[in-house]
Amino acid sequence: MSQVTFENVGKEYVSGTWAVRDFNLRIGDGEFVSFLGPSGCGKTTTLRMIAGLEENTHGQIRFDQDIVSDPQGRKFIAPEKRNVGMVFQSYAVWPHMNVFDNVAYPLRLKKISREKMRADVAEILKIVELSGYEDRRPDQLSGGQQQRVALARGLVMRPRILLLDEPLSNLDSKLREKMRRDIREIQQKFKLTMVYVTHDQKEAFQMSDKIVIMNGGKIVQVGSPAEIRGQPVDDFVKEFISESN
Ligand SMILES: Nc1ncnc2c1ncn2[C@@H]1O[C@H](COP(=O)(O)OP(=O)(O)O)[C@@H](O)[C@H]1O
Ligand SMILES: [Mg+2]
Repeated sequence: MSQVTFENVGKEYVSGTWAVRDFNLRIGDGEFVSFLGPSGCGKTTTLRMIAGLEENTHGQIRFDQDIVSDPQGRKFIAPEKRNVGMVFQSYAVWPHMNVFDNVAYPLRLKKISREKMRADVAEILKIVELSGYEDRRPDQLSGGQQQRVALARGLVMRPRILLLDEPLSNLDSKLREKMRRDIREIQQKFKLTMVYVTHDQKEAFQMSDKIVIMNGGKIVQVGSPAEIRGQPVDDFVKEFISESN
């Protein structure tokens, strides 16, 4: 289980230049939350702060009761100790490794037994419907299959939180539809806390329990798809969500 709490979180790259500012949010355990907003609004930066790949300069981030980052309190938990999985837009699978080795990679760093590794990889490959593809190399897979490999690698450690940064942007629209359903299904099956970054309104509205609309590094509105559709807080939200229709 894991909930994520942001308290007055900020990321100031250069003095006076904020990528993210005054960010307050609670992501519930097992919730599917999307960060939605135009390019440059701070989505990726926020996601990377959850993973610990980026350090917030202000405020505090907690996983349940545990403080994972608090610069003023001089606390910072390293990314590899956060048990967070991540899937990026670019497939980010290693071209020289076959499917098995790509998916097993995070487990190798853990030094578990060979049998346990095989069992864990087999189980995850089954979930992403890639059983039987263990020996294929990425260049022998379609884009959708490569992205499933990336998804399997993000899941194999049984992370407490899975972060996805525009993971479907490179796929054609038919495959994107299918992957949206698959990802949602996996999220519900594992009861994962999932944070999904997208600039695609349709995607966010279709998949999420909760949508966080961002603009200029700040949260503009938080709500369920129905709440945001029914009561957009301002013209920015109104226009941004109407672009999709
Ligand atoms: N390493 C960096 N140094 C300075 N500014 C950055 C850096 N990374 C991102 N930014 C700035 O932070 C803002 C938010 O970027 P980002 O989080 O990538 O937005 P999004 O993912 O929503 O497109 C942008 O204005 C971007 O230019
Ligand atoms: Mg981004």
